[in-house]
Amino acid sequence: MTEPELAEHPSAEGGPAGVTITGLHKAYGDNEVLKGIDMSVRPGEVVCLIGASGSGKSTLLRCVNRLEDPNAGTITVGSFEATDPDVDLDAMRRHIGMVFQQFNLFPHLSVLENCTITPRRVLKQPKEDAEAEAMTQLRRVGLEELAQRRPDQLSGGQQQRVAIARALTMRPALMLFDEPTSALDPETVGDVLAIMRQLAEAGMTMIVVTHEMAFAREVADRVVFMDQGRVVEEGPAAEVIGDPQQPRTQDFLRRVLNPTDVDIRD
Ligand SMILES: Nc1ncnc2c1ncn2[C@@H]1O[C@H](COP(=O)(O)OP(=O)(O)O)[C@@H](O)[C@H]1O
Ligand SMILES: [Mg+2]
Repeated sequence: MTEPELAEHPSAEGGPAGVTITGLHKAYGDNEVLKGIDMSVRPGEVVCLIGASGSGKSTLLRCVNRLEDPNAGTITVGSFEATDPDVDLDAMRRHIGMVFQQFNLFPHLSVLENCTITPRRVLKQPKEDAEAEAMTQLRRVGLEELAQRRPDQLSGGQQQRVAIARALTMRPALMLFDEPTSALDPETVGDVLAIMRQLAEAGMTMIVVTHEMAFAREVADRVVFMDQGRVVEEGPAAEVIGDPQQPRTQDFLRRVLNPTDVDIRD
């Protein structure tokens, strides 16, 4: 989709939303998972969040749409104060699309039905309108011809593209991706990344947790490296990935970029 097209179809918020996170803390029992995160994303910006497993990336994303309740700190998403106890969570979540490693499609519904169920139930859209919008988004991800199929008749990459189309039917102002290609066969990863690149170019605000360093380097405006619940390094993608300054970032990238380069002291 080109930028003028996106302008014709603004998000429900009226445009891409920015995100501001200040002093975010989250613990599970005495396991402190987020230890004071400060991070901001400008409207239309693409930020890739990288870091080792267990560093708190998913928890951070889940705090943004309040699937988790932070212990301290503030988060704003566009005009919503996500951490305000009185925030209208349903209204806020309508503006936030989330795509997970597992696609979470309804197996008994067609691709088209998977894409219309939320607009029909939550936005009370008439069936025809919801289907027209779903077809627009399925076309955008190149799957309009598979609209009548069931999820188990699609490849993993196609299912993930349906999950993206489904999120886009709500005209989100922010998209959160949590390792969207980690569960895919290698040959279908590229198609999903291509859709995400298109979405970035169309001006969507995106926070993307990923291990795809080539994608991050090419598409992200900024890269944030997290380790053990803290932001250790952030900056333009070319700097953080191409010329990391912190030893922990260097170590992480060495492992990710050279998986067979095993240090026998590990
Ligand atoms: N619902 C939960 N209950 C208890 N501990 C959790 C829960 N979710 C995550 N954790 C713990 O929080 C830490 C960070 O997890 P996570 O945010 O999933 O990291 P990442 O996405 O970077 O791999 C891990 O130690 C994990 O075990
Ligand atoms: Mg995770």
